[in-house]
Amino acid sequence: MKFNGKVLRNKEIAENIWKLDINAGKQFKSLPGQFINVLINDTYEPLLRRPFSIFEASDKKVSIVYKVLGAGTKALAEKKSGDSLDFIGPLGRSYLEFLKRAKNASIIVIGGGTGAASVHYLAKHLRAAGKKFVFIQGARSACNMVAVPEFKKLGCSFSTDDGSLGEKGFVSDLLQKKITGGAVIFACGPKPMFRAIKQACANVKNVKIYASFEEYMGCGIGACLSCVIETTDGTYKRVCKDGTVFDLNDVVI
Ligand SMILES: Cc1cc2nc3c(=O)[nH]c(=O)nc-3n(C[C@H](O)[C@H](O)[C@H](O)COP(=O)(O)OP(=O)(O)OC[C@H]3O[C@@H](n4cnc5c(N)ncnc54)[C@H](O)[C@@H]3O)c2cc1C
Ligand code: FES
Repeated sequence: MKFNGKVLRNKEIAENIWKLDINAGKQFKSLPGQFINVLINDTYEPLLRRPFSIFEASDKKVSIVYKVLGAGTKALAEKKSGDSLDFIGPLGRSYLEFLKRAKNASIIVIGGGTGAASVHYLAKHLRAAGKKFVFIQGARSACNMVAVPEFKKLGCSFSTDDGSLGEKGFVSDLLQKKITGGAVIFACGPKPMFRAIKQACANVKNVKIYASFEEYMGCGIGACLSCVIETTDGTYKRVCKDGTVFDLNDVVI
């Protein structure tokens, strides 16, 4: 569904990382793991909408946390309170579809890079539902970490490649210390992180990994096929429509 929201607040919360709060109106309802596709300008630059995971949503408000990288996110950072913002959403399947299958398993939630925004919404949901879970965010260094105070409130542990925040090493090193047989992992981040998580769980029994992919997207609604990933049965799936969350065992990474 297409929305014409109003920017409530757009603020740099860490170096090059911004949080944008939008008044989307009462009709906007979303679930953890879903994303919105934002039309940043009416001009040709950038031409395509840009996808962002929902960081949190409540009542009429939806928030994203984004890293300024190129033309689109630079223009997004210039939005001011009161500006209109056209977006489509909520898009994609939620982690909650897979959470239902987890039953009484121990839950581990992992975010890497800007993928942390996506799992933050899930962690908030789990906390509100009174569920216990292990929560990990990893980044290259402290200055790349997303929304640290909000993650701390949810009991998150941190790992950085250079040791500047939390444990020194990869999220998979921290995961190895916390993983137990039968665990269910929800993760969002870059593909190398998924490979490392898979490897860290290789000798642990009955672990399920559900991963949310952030492939380059054109339309965000299943029409252009620019976001496809290969599955282990040789077919291709659209990340925007068939995912973004997949059983990691079903995907070639
Ligand atoms: C489902 C989904 C959810 C996302 N959620 C978030 C989020 O919550 N926060 C956030 O900061 N970003 C998120 N992203 C990535 C975000 O969409 C891109 O960073 C953004 O579109 C870049 O736009 P731009 O015009 O600023 O940069 P561009 O000029 O388009 O690209 C700048 C640089 O970013 C790289 N880049 C662009 N898109 C991606 C991508 N999908 N994956 C990896 N690298 C990319 C390009 O290779 C290039 O080096 C998400 C992407 C997807 C598909
Ligand atoms: S982005 Fe067009 S099909 Fe996924």
